[in-house]
Amino acid sequence: MTKAFIFLGPPGCGKGTQTDILSKELNLPHVDTGSLLRKNISEKTEIGKIAQGYIDKGQLVPLEVVSTVIKNRLMEDDCKNGYILDGFPRSLEQAGALDKIIEELNQKIEMTAVYFDIPTEVLVERLVNRRSCPKCGKIYNIKTSAPKVENKCDDCKVDLIQRKDDTKETALLRFETYEKETHPLLDFYTKRGVLKTINANQPVKDVWAELAKIAGI
Ligand code: AP5
Ligand code: MG
Repeated sequence: MTKAFIFLGPPGCGKGTQTDILSKELNLPHVDTGSLLRKNISEKTEIGKIAQGYIDKGQLVPLEVVSTVIKNRLMEDDCKNGYILDGFPRSLEQAGALDKIIEELNQKIEMTAVYFDIPTEVLVERLVNRRSCPKCGKIYNIKTSAPKVENKCDDCKVDLIQRKDDTKETALLRFETYEKETHPLLDFYTKRGVLKTINANQPVKDVWAELAKIAGI
């Protein structure tokens, strides 16, 4: 049986931060559509060229594009025993596409959807202060989890970067997209009986304690 976690929650709620921990604990790959799309943008691929405009406007990249990216990723060897989906699906149509991909890949899935519950008011502050390592992807926050040496990754020692969509203006557009497109998934996965909710408005270690319980760690 393949274990699949689906992380749902607004931009900045801590999906990436918690996936990094869970991924190490359970030895499951972190499948993050945002990072996969940004990689395509930096490599100037056709997918990257399409994705750029949508990401800059805080909108969802079209279904066919993200479905292709996800399907290719889930076909890789390391996804055979499970994966953590961070940022996919993000709409009802993407949830349907995921079911189809799982069927096509003939994966027997035990699915857990985790909703990171948090008021959006606290999120702009988190997003504008986020920095990340371009090499290993480690996530920092200059206010709440700063690197040991200013603007350098603790592990890779390279300069940290700030995401282009982490401005207040784009964050507000991303919240709107989240409310309209992604929020309905809570109802969808509740009806399926697989939704768990965690309080994401507390320190990282306390969010992790709730998540670890759900994951049976
Ligand atoms: P994506 O990269 O997925 O961005 P997002 O959903 O907006 O989520 P974030 O990565 O911003 O936040 P996060 O929840 O991972 O928070 P993090 O842990 O980093 O997507 C970007 C764009 O790509 C989308 O807008 C869209 O255009 C496109 N895209 C992606 N997937 C798509 C899809 N499926 N379909 C179509 N388009 C798609 O934490 C944030 C900050 O808070 C960090 O600084 C962190 O250190 C800090 N922090 C974390 N936890 C805590 C805590 N408990 N307390 C205090 N600070 C904390
Ligand atoms: Mg993220």
